[in-house]
Amino acid sequence: MTSAELDRRHVWHPFTQMRDWNDPAHEMIVLVEGSGAVLKAEDGREYLDGNSSIWTNLHGHRHPEIDRAIKDQIDRIAHSSFLGSTNDVAVRLAAKLIEATRLADHKVFFSDDGSTAIEAALKMVYQARLQRGETVRRKFVSLASGYHGDTIGAMSAGHSPIFHAAYRPLLFETEEVMSPACYRCPHNQAKPRRGVEARAGRQCQWECLDALTTKLDALGDQATALVMEPAVQGSAGMTMHPPGYLAQAAAACRDRGVWLVLDEVMTGFGRTGSLFACQGENVAPDLLVLAKGLTAGYLPVAATLASRDIFDAFLGDYSEMKTFFHGHSYTGNALGCAAALANLKIFETGQTLGTIAKSARILEHALARFWDHPNVGDVRQEGLVCAIEIVEDFDTRKSFPFAQRLGHRICLEARRHGLLTRPIGDVLILMPPYCATEAQLTHMADALWLALCTVLPLPNCSTPG
Ligand SMILES: Cc1ncc(COP(=O)(O)O)c(C=O)c1O
Repeated sequence: MTSAELDRRHVWHPFTQMRDWNDPAHEMIVLVEGSGAVLKAEDGREYLDGNSSIWTNLHGHRHPEIDRAIKDQIDRIAHSSFLGSTNDVAVRLAAKLIEATRLADHKVFFSDDGSTAIEAALKMVYQARLQRGETVRRKFVSLASGYHGDTIGAMSAGHSPIFHAAYRPLLFETEEVMSPACYRCPHNQAKPRRGVEARAGRQCQWECLDALTTKLDALGDQATALVMEPAVQGSAGMTMHPPGYLAQAAAACRDRGVWLVLDEVMTGFGRTGSLFACQGENVAPDLLVLAKGLTAGYLPVAATLASRDIFDAFLGDYSEMKTFFHGHSYTGNALGCAAALANLKIFETGQTLGTIAKSARILEHALARFWDHPNVGDVRQEGLVCAIEIVEDFDTRKSFPFAQRLGHRICLEARRHGLLTRPIGDVLILMPPYCATEAQLTHMADALWLALCTVLPLPNCSTPG
């Protein structure tokens, strides 16, 4: 049996309508190898990894230093329990994470992926408040369209109608506040202008911050924590926040005794240009959640970094039952931690942040032509997160009907030009690995442009040069 046949027979894929997937007309890509920014399929075809394998792979596939670190580690030990013992790799990783995040007094709690790390953060907040005697502080506040993962707590903190609607009765109540997403913000009075990103051209009075402070004031002592993705809300469609929002939101929380939980599962490790998005605005969160790029896309390791105040709330006599009774079998997994240490070393010893800035400029230049297409409503970018929003009507920002699946069709077409990426609705996304060369970055932009002009034809569409 071929790999595709085995897949159709036995596998259920995430976020996938399996009836479409298993349709014989669906052309399945079976990936078998990777090198740098290139993925190779079983049939010999090669693709550029345009979304860093769902936002995880930072430095490219088969990076020699990360490969070596994992091989060295496997010659020592792959995994041992973090319950009742510790290990040399996880403790070194914890120390490096504290150094990299500049959260000197925080403690590192390891888990497996973004959802489990968020889940740990929510439980830490909840239990810490109880144990500090702040028993009325139970209300979590989070941003509209936020996405923090698929476990019950993570879904409760999220506000994604498409992903979460079916489970709503299972979820605990959280308070939603408007997202500072300028392109579709009802308070943004600016008319769309070609060539001007919505954030840059916005005309508003920071109503998003007013909405946050109004909500926090209305909740008063009931507000426990604000949970948010800083700078870019990934699954919301790579919506991007105006610079300054994060610092002001953090100040609003601090003034009211509300903890700030930053979900840097997607934005962490250089993706938005600074090592962590919160550092871009000099914000130190009470809880910082890291996953995805932590191991540079090699192995599932996540971390929740908790402030001294939160950590201290769990200290006491065993009989007081203040322990954080929470954890997972693979916590502190040595192979994963070795990969994460190698990842951090690449940032420490290389010029990664400089490379990211340079590649971001290359992509900015290569994507400028998208403004010429009548169905491109917004082209936005934060570091190496690039998003192109497709609309039916530029002036009104009206979307195409959901059922037309334009983003999906454009990305399918892009495969024919050697690019693999995945849209969010009608938002096309490029998030290349940091190792992508100038030629590869230009190829990604060209492939997406050709695909767009095939699905939504333009006269005389070609790539430049
Ligand atoms: C911001 C954010 N938080 C949390 C998650 C959940 O992470 P995971 O898929 O590793 O559980 C994601 C996944 O896309 C994410 O983008």
